[in-house]
Amino acid sequence: MQKIALIGFGTVGQGLCEILRDKTDELKQKYGYEWKIVAVSDVMKGSVYCPEGLNVDKLLKFAQDGKSLNDYDCKCKADILETGWDALKTIKKSNADVICELAFTDLQTGEPAISHCKTAFESGKSVVTSNKGPAALAYQEMLKLATANNVKFMIEGTVASGTPILNLAEGPLAGCKISSVKGILNGTTNYILSEMEGGMSYDDALAKAQELGYAEADPTGDVEGYDARAKVAILTNVVMGQSFGINDVACEGITKITSDDIAKANSENARWKLLGSTEIVDGKVVASVKPEMVTMSHPLAGIMGATNALTFSTDLMGDVTIVGAGAGRIETGFSILTDLLSIDH
Ligand code: HSE
Repeated sequence: MQKIALIGFGTVGQGLCEILRDKTDELKQKYGYEWKIVAVSDVMKGSVYCPEGLNVDKLLKFAQDGKSLNDYDCKCKADILETGWDALKTIKKSNADVICELAFTDLQTGEPAISHCKTAFESGKSVVTSNKGPAALAYQEMLKLATANNVKFMIEGTVASGTPILNLAEGPLAGCKISSVKGILNGTTNYILSEMEGGMSYDDALAKAQELGYAEADPTGDVEGYDARAKVAILTNVVMGQSFGINDVACEGITKITSDDIAKANSENARWKLLGSTEIVDGKVVASVKPEMVTMSHPLAGIMGATNALTFSTDLMGDVTIVGAGAGRIETGFSILTDLLSIDH
């Protein structure tokens, strides 16, 4: 029985809870996987801990109704129920085996997620996270600390939600030498470029992307390429084994691309895409995010809307391209589930 603590109870945490609730029987029957959410701690939504497990429907109802988890009660367990614990206390003192770190992170410092991860590892607990900060800024350090404490640092959800990009590189493609990883890593900008091609203005397309929930809370992170840059840093660290930070990735967003540029590309049978890449050039790893004009026959040209796609160039398999969702409540919730299952097996 895997005991889980959620640090952060926003979209991803709630998406995960819905999946776990709806698939309880299937996960048990098919994979022998059983779970309990023992703690939830959220800066805004309050916190609750019960070593014997919390009621997921009740947790979701609290979130839906905007009620504080500090008011969660459970008469039969009143003697062991704790409320009001902050993230670090929950990580240290709860009986969880796995911490799902799903809180907000500052991409400049990686905090508070980096501290949450370190505390978890030092407490002998594995971390599953879709938070880009720790992997983009301190991947090797996190991995080392997790390994030293005999626990796991799992980050599938940091790149393209549950589309198995990192698992593909580390699992099925193991044995191949990967010389380049290149593709569309930000759904919002790809959506904007797609809609602009259909005649929508930049501002309207951005507003629509926000409305559809693709964009970051501050969409500057999307349109200036910062979100894709963090993902490229993570790919560089995981796939190329480097210690890159976000500032090691050259970055240019889509804000300078005009409707005229898009029309011009179209007249030349091409299309603008914001491409992130990390590749070995003359024995050195070079990483960047920048808009590129690709011809319509290019494998990434047909990827429209909020979809992500990434091509791995390998020695044994040539090019391998994976296409899938890049964001979303259930899609990112699934990325956490896939890592939880992998830790359990
Ligand atoms: N805002 C991101 C995107 C989603 O548009 O792809 C999560 O990284």
